[in-house]
This record gives sequence, C-alpha cells and structure tokens, in this order.
Amino acid sequence: MRHLLGIEQLSCHDIQLIFNHAAEYKKKLKQSAGYSQVLTHQTVVLLFCEPSTRTRISFSAAAKKLNAHVIHMTANTSSLEKGETLLDTLKTLEALTADFIVVRHSESGVIHQLASEVHASLINAGDGMHEHPSQALLDAFTLQEKLGSLQGKRISMIGDILHSRVARSSAWLFQKLGAVVTFCGPRHLVPLQFEQMGVYVTHNVKKAIEGADVLDVLRMQHERQDRQSSASMMDDYVKNYRVDADKINRYAKKELLICHPGPVNREIELTSDLIDSQQSLILSQVTHGLLVRMGIFHWLSEKR
Ligand code: CP
Repeated sequence: MRHLLGIEQLSCHDIQLIFNHAAEYKKKLKQSAGYSQVLTHQTVVLLFCEPSTRTRISFSAAAKKLNAHVIHMTANTSSLEKGETLLDTLKTLEALTADFIVVRHSESGVIHQLASEVHASLINAGDGMHEHPSQALLDAFTLQEKLGSLQGKRISMIGDILHSRVARSSAWLFQKLGAVVTFCGPRHLVPLQFEQMGVYVTHNVKKAIEGADVLDVLRMQHERQDRQSSASMMDDYVKNYRVDADKINRYAKKELLICHPGPVNREIELTSDLIDSQQSLILSQVTHGLLVRMGIFHWLSEKR
C-alpha cells in the first residue's frame, strides 16, 4: 500500500509502525536533535479544496522537517476552478514530479476512488463526511501516551457525529486499539445506524459521561448542516449536550480527559474553562499532529 486513505483498512501493524516513528520524532523534538532526512529529493504537494489550519500547516511542517520540497496548492486558484477534474489535476501534479499528494476534499470517498490511478502516494487529509485518518492517528497517539494503552478504556464522542469524518476514523481506530466507543448527541446528529460500526449509541449525555475515561468532543459542522434547522436546534443542543463544568461535576470521574480535534466553537460544544483546563489535551493533540504526520511520511517512504 503506497497511500494512506483511511483507518478502516489500516492494519494494527501499520498503525504501530506509524506510532513508533512518531515516538522517535517526539524524542528528537525533546532533545532538539536533528530529524532523519527521509524525504530528501522528494516533492510533497498539499492540495486543499476545503479550509484548514492544523492539518495543512502540520503536514507542511512535517514534510519540511524531513527535508522535502513542499508545494502548497489551493483549489480556488487552480485549474479545478476551470473545470479540470480532480483525477486530471492529480495526474498533472504527478507529471510535475510530486511524490506525495496530501488531499482535502469535500466529496466523501473521492480520494479512495482515484487512488488506483495515481502513482504518487496519496494521503487523505479529510474527505467529506468519510475519513480523516491522520487526525484519528494523532488523537490515539495522544491518548495512548496519557493512558498507557487504550485497551478496555471507555471513550465517548459527543457532538455532530453525522457530519464528522473524525468520528468515523477515530471510532475505527479506537476500537482497533481495544477501546469501547460510545457516540452521543441528539437523534438527528447521531442516528442509531452508527451501531453497525460496533459502537454504542446514546442520546443521553449523562450515560455518555458516566464512567468515561475520555470525552472526545466534536465540532458542530455548520457548513455541512441545514442552516435553518441548525439555528433553531442550537439552543437545545447547548442545553442538553454541550460539555460544560456543570455536566462534568455531576457525571464525570475525576481523572476524565477531554479531547477535541479542533477547530472548536467555544461555548457551543465545549466551554472555554474546560478547553483551557488541566483535563484538556487539545494543544497536545496539535503538537502530536506534527509528529504523527512525520511518522506517516516516514512509514509511506519505506513502502514506496
Ligand atoms: N482537525 C482539523 O482537521 O483541523 P483543520 O481543519 O484546522 O485542519
């Protein structure tokens, strides 16, 4: 496999290899030591057709630290705007000697569909409501470092699960690593069909928080929701599902950890006091994003 398309098909062996590389890079970061130059003479193109801060900047920084030549490309200044297909764009980048193409796209599954026709290594940086594998990997890496192992740990993901690619990738990954995963939110954002992934589904926030080791709070994806209905349902959401001190004090165990993949809508899905609290792993997730993405490049460079 020369691509990273999703978590669902990724083996536990490959996950461990990526984590091993990330852990080595973390040691080097702490020691201010030099990084391996595994991407020397390699070209990495970042093709983002949706906005991004964390993913785009950390893939760019990761590739540069490994000595790649990095090219940023945005959809709205490219020939995609003139009607060129995504496949023709990818083949064009390949003809311009791209070795790795990191793609974020609004269409679910599009990167998987094109992968067999592209020789460069494709890295899925988020496709519609489908998968966001590097986010799941960095979240699991962060939690493993904090908890030792995810085996038997209870992770509740609370929020807009329906529109979340992070929820899908993370649920696959947390379960592969032995965790028990619960999805929680209002019925229109957390349909019961998600149980087919092996997770528990609840619409009762108390049940999701009680006994959980980790709350992974997810963003309200306003850009993918029906705007009228999302405005009218927001007050209900904040009252019943927002993770705040009141719910934590009433239901959570003391050692509870709080994650959020970002960007956060402060006071909507999670309150500021918790975002900035000792329980929050949010900034640690961001730093691990750099290290895990270095690990992904290293792992793929060995496969090429
Ligand atoms: N978590 C995440 O994908 O953030 P960005 O959209 O800022 O990349």
